[in-house]
Amino acid sequence: MNSSDNNNLKFFNGKPIVFLSGIYIYLIVVIIIIGLIYVNNLNDITTQAVPLRLNSQAVEKDLQLQEAKVIPPVDVLSIIDPSPEIIAKGKMLFEQNCSSCHGNAGKGDGPAGEALDPKPRNYTQSTGWKNGMKLSEIYKTLEEGIPGSGMASYNYLLPEDKLALGTYIRSAFIQNAPEDTDEDLFNLDLNYNLSEGTSLPAQIPVKFANKLIVSENNKTVKKIKGIIASIKNMDDNEGKKLFYKVTNNKFSALVTLNAEQSWKKNQQLFVDVIVNDAINNGFNGKVFQLSSRQWDSLFRFLSGQIQ
Ligand code: HEC
Repeated sequence: MNSSDNNNLKFFNGKPIVFLSGIYIYLIVVIIIIGLIYVNNLNDITTQAVPLRLNSQAVEKDLQLQEAKVIPPVDVLSIIDPSPEIIAKGKMLFEQNCSSCHGNAGKGDGPAGEALDPKPRNYTQSTGWKNGMKLSEIYKTLEEGIPGSGMASYNYLLPEDKLALGTYIRSAFIQNAPEDTDEDLFNLDLNYNLSEGTSLPAQIPVKFANKLIVSENNKTVKKIKGIIASIKNMDDNEGKKLFYKVTNNKFSALVTLNAEQSWKKNQQLFVDVIVNDAINNGFNGKVFQLSSRQWDSLFRFLSGQIQ
């Protein structure tokens, strides 16, 4: 080793610093590798803890917008020997609701079904049906859909429409359609209450309901903020002073009084509403010390503000 080599080296504890920093780089690389392995394993653990695949249909499905309605009873037996009117109705419904996927000739080749996997059923093929080709089985398909496929539930159609659809598909497209036994028809009737009819409550999609709640809330927030601003701009008067004195949170106090306004009918109700849950409703302890004359002015003041 000649002296010029040593000139450039700095030493720490007798070892050249270049050597020491080599060890640090080595340690850092090892730590990073261990870290990567750990993170990778973490990933394994979490993917195993969560269900492997969420059924995207189940997540996206929402209620249909539906008015309350009474479902008229139908006589299943009348379908056994279907009238031309029932078949014509089935054809019309099929063209409105189904042929986009199942094709006008029932071959499963409609344009809306092209990208679907599994493909829409070709009714003219007799193998591979999930529920089956009997009327009762097609009814079940329409009622429940085929989970995990593009075949949605059509349970909002009236029972007679679902029966008409099934009848049409069977007569127009399915060769040698298997007949339902008496027991099949009996169970169909029983399972879906067909001969009794039912009444359905109104329902609205959850997403829509949420929007309504939010927009109702926005309206309330605006209104209450308006009241707070108008009280603030008002010249001092006894009602205003009392309101400021007995509230910690004017917003909550006004929300409570605005939500249900039957207290306006008499002062005792007003007192009850406030003292019932005063602190949670934005009032403070001073509200319990009001004289009856002060209650009276607070009552008249707030009745005037909250419309
Ligand atoms: C968005 C496309 C689409 C529409 C619209 C559609 N279907 Fe389907 N349908 C499918 C798909 C996809 C399948 C195949 C499901 C499978 O094999 O898992 C299917 C399967 C079926 C089956 C066979 C079920 C079985 O037992 O295998 C019947 C019956 C059926 N549909 C009837 C109808 C009727 C009646 C309508 C209209 C009211 C309709 N479909 C509307 C996509 C659709």
